[in-house]
Amino acid sequence: MSEGVSSKTDTVTNTKWILKRRPQGAFDPEKDAGMVSEEMHMATSCGDDEIVIEVDTLSVDAFIRTMLDEEAYHGAIDLGKTIPALGYGKVVYSGKNANKKVGSTVQCMMGAQRFATVKASDAFPKMDLPRMSSTASLGLLGVTTGFTAYAGIFYVCKPPKKGDTVVITAAAGAVGSVAVQLAKSTGARVIGIAGGPRKNQYLIDDLQLDGSVDYKDSTKTVAQQLEETCPNGIDFIYDNVGGQILDDMLLKINPNARVVICGAVSQYNSGKLNKGLVQGPSNYLKLAERGATMKGFNVMQYLHKLPFMLFGMFWLNLRGKVTMNEHIETGIESFPKALNHLFTGASIGKCLVAVKSGNTTADKKKD
Ligand SMILES: NC(=O)c1ccc[n+]([C@@H]2O[C@H](COP(=O)([O-])OP(=O)(O)OC[C@H]3O[C@@H](n4cnc5c(N)ncnc54)[C@H](OP(=O)(O)O)[C@@H]3O)[C@@H](O)[C@H]2O)c1
Repeated sequence: MSEGVSSKTDTVTNTKWILKRRPQGAFDPEKDAGMVSEEMHMATSCGDDEIVIEVDTLSVDAFIRTMLDEEAYHGAIDLGKTIPALGYGKVVYSGKNANKKVGSTVQCMMGAQRFATVKASDAFPKMDLPRMSSTASLGLLGVTTGFTAYAGIFYVCKPPKKGDTVVITAAAGAVGSVAVQLAKSTGARVIGIAGGPRKNQYLIDDLQLDGSVDYKDSTKTVAQQLEETCPNGIDFIYDNVGGQILDDMLLKINPNARVVICGAVSQYNSGKLNKGLVQGPSNYLKLAERGATMKGFNVMQYLHKLPFMLFGMFWLNLRGKVTMNEHIETGIESFPKALNHLFTGASIGKCLVAVKSGNTTADKKKD
């Protein structure tokens, strides 16, 4: 039995979402996930080098869907295991060798649950900066969100510059909405691609983009809309979506264009990832014709740039150049629904789940 330190009570009820079945296509919360509650006696369940965290807020990220498949780049989770999610919360129990203070707020991979038991060395102090919302550590300052956008715009290839035409997909999503604003801050002309009139209006009215493409518009193809919005071709692509939209964009690239591959969310529900069956870019020869570069990245490859990204993001936020819309669902019950928002297009900006209801002080706009 661990002789750790507890905040108040030794026994809590944990409620968590487990993977019941591998999704067959789109994630089906009813069939693929199950919510279970269990009593947790912290002193016996928490190892000496572990801590128990009372989860405050969870980040809903597209990569979670890929981890529900049998094979996954980020690691597939086993059936019966807790659905993964990044988040932050308060340490309520600390094992005797765990170097974390009860009452401190930490951030790490904690899973879709109310109480997470994690190795103390995997948890980091939550990052808070003046003037930013308390949830910014998962959004603008989140490695899988703001810093993914920052790395992809500024570090992966030669960044956009004044006069360039930049096109960014999933532009009203978490990573995309930051990427479009960062691209705008360079003076480039920025076009966002998103699904439906509400998101396209958001791109023009709120993010002040130079143009938008609605890939769900049944009256005009993406290719036609790119023709209208990018009459002088495309110099820089930041792609989150892959599939047909990437192919449509490749047809329009200019000499020396840069194509940054961040993700391919259009393929994540296909069940074909890691099986050699992803819909690849059949127009890739345009890269050769135009002397263009296509480069993929994983944000973890750019962690050495973190101090620069942190300062850059803070400075741009301070000057009002980069903000984050947050879509917040409340209660652990809402987690699967929130995950589906990323694929149905229901959320704008960063999708979060406020697990400890009423305790999240997200002070930015919420849609
Ligand atoms: N490389 C890295 O290190 C790294 C790190 C983090 C994230 N990522 C990638 O970044 C991308 C965005 O992730 P996120 O977590 O920020 O999610 P998100 O953008 O907040 O949500 C996903 C968005 O994708 C769009 N979408 C869904 N299905 C689509 C389809 N079939 N065709 C076109 N658009 C579709 C939806 O917007 P609409 O309503 O417009 O359809 C939705 O807003 C993902 O590809 C993710 O894998 C990469």
